[in-house]
Amino acid sequence: MRPYISKSPLQTIKLASAFAKQLKAGDIVLLEGQLGSGKTTFVKGLAQGLKAKVNDVHSPTFVLMNIYKGKFPIYHFDLYRLQKPQELASLNWDEYLEADGVAVIEWPRRLGTQIPAHGYWIEFKHQDENSRKICISYRWKPQRRFSR
Ligand SMILES: Nc1ncnc2c1ncn2[C@@H]1O[C@H](COP(=O)(O)OP(=O)(O)O)[C@@H](O)[C@H]1O
Ligand SMILES: [Mg+2]
Repeated sequence: MRPYISKSPLQTIKLASAFAKQLKAGDIVLLEGQLGSGKTTFVKGLAQGLKAKVNDVHSPTFVLMNIYKGKFPIYHFDLYRLQKPQELASLNWDEYLEADGVAVIEWPRRLGTQIPAHGYWIEFKHQDENSRKICISYRWKPQRRFSR
């Protein structure tokens, strides 16, 4: 799909806010991209689109997850500091997937084989100081029980 080019944090917020309108409880949004590429800024836009408080949004660096109350709960994970997927075990993090809200995960590749099998993938690329390339797609990996 053609990427979006965002020329400012505000444009990224507007894009995310528009994107959020289609989200339903149970959806999963995975945000991939280097530090400073705009993932958390995008979550602010998601919060805005889901009528949560934008000022509450910040990366949950130490607790791994923040919850914002909007149209439905937004479970915001930032796995940057995760060393290995097993560290998440005590959080029962997967209970927040396909639940009563939307799970939004920064650095989903840190999950290794536990990456959700389906969800919106949003990739961010730093272009220059204020410009970011943003690609949105939906990925679905069939479960084994469906394969021949
Ligand atoms: N077009 C843009 N979209 C998003 N952020 C931008 C843009 N241009 C500049 N920035 C700046 O880049 C930084 C992005 O930070 P952040 O959203 O926390 O990134 P990440 O969560 O990917 O580490 C912020 O300081 C923001 O002001
Ligand atoms: Mg971040």
